[in-house]
Amino acid sequence: MNVKDKEFEVYISEAKILERTREIATKINEEFKDQDPLFIGILNGSFMFAADLMKAVDIPSEITFIKVSSYQATQSTGKVKELVGLQQNIFNRNIILIEDIVDTGRTMEHLITDFKELGPKSISICSLLYKPEALKADLDIRYVGFEIPNRFVLGYGLDYDGYGRNLRDIYQLKE
Ligand code: IMP
Ligand code: MG
Repeated sequence: MNVKDKEFEVYISEAKILERTREIATKINEEFKDQDPLFIGILNGSFMFAADLMKAVDIPSEITFIKVSSYQATQSTGKVKELVGLQQNIFNRNIILIEDIVDTGRTMEHLITDFKELGPKSISICSLLYKPEALKADLDIRYVGFEIPNRFVLGYGLDYDGYGRNLRDIYQLKE
């Protein structure tokens, strides 16, 4: 399968993704029963995972979405990430962040620092994919769908240069 200039092959099927997603939801249903969690999906990548996960969550809960914008800071050479679009008051709430993938973990690290300033009761990470070999941050990922090797993937929300998010399966870059 080709997306733009690269060739990809199926890596995790839609059926496997859905099966694992339901297992994670079952755990969340048990562990957050009576906790009134607020799920926060990180756009764009998490939109499919968030939808399928929430269909299997059956405890009282809310879901909202935010975007992480990256911009070049004027005072530094590093990329700064900022959360955009949070409407809810998260003070004293149990937050579950829904991500498509944790790669270096830098995005999550920044987000958690920002969220902590808003005084939530707890923050948990739920990521469909996780590349342990790429991790450069100190993160505790509570729910992980699949641990994968340090190779580029796309589909099921994940993109290559904007394309491929609509694919039902997860694909891996062909060597
Ligand atoms: P991190 O800050 O390095 O953990 O990167 C997180 C973000 O990079 C994810 O939310 C994705 O949007 C993107 N990303 C990392 N690895 C991949 C990949 O293999 N395919 C597509 N996007 C990726
Ligand atoms: Mg993303």
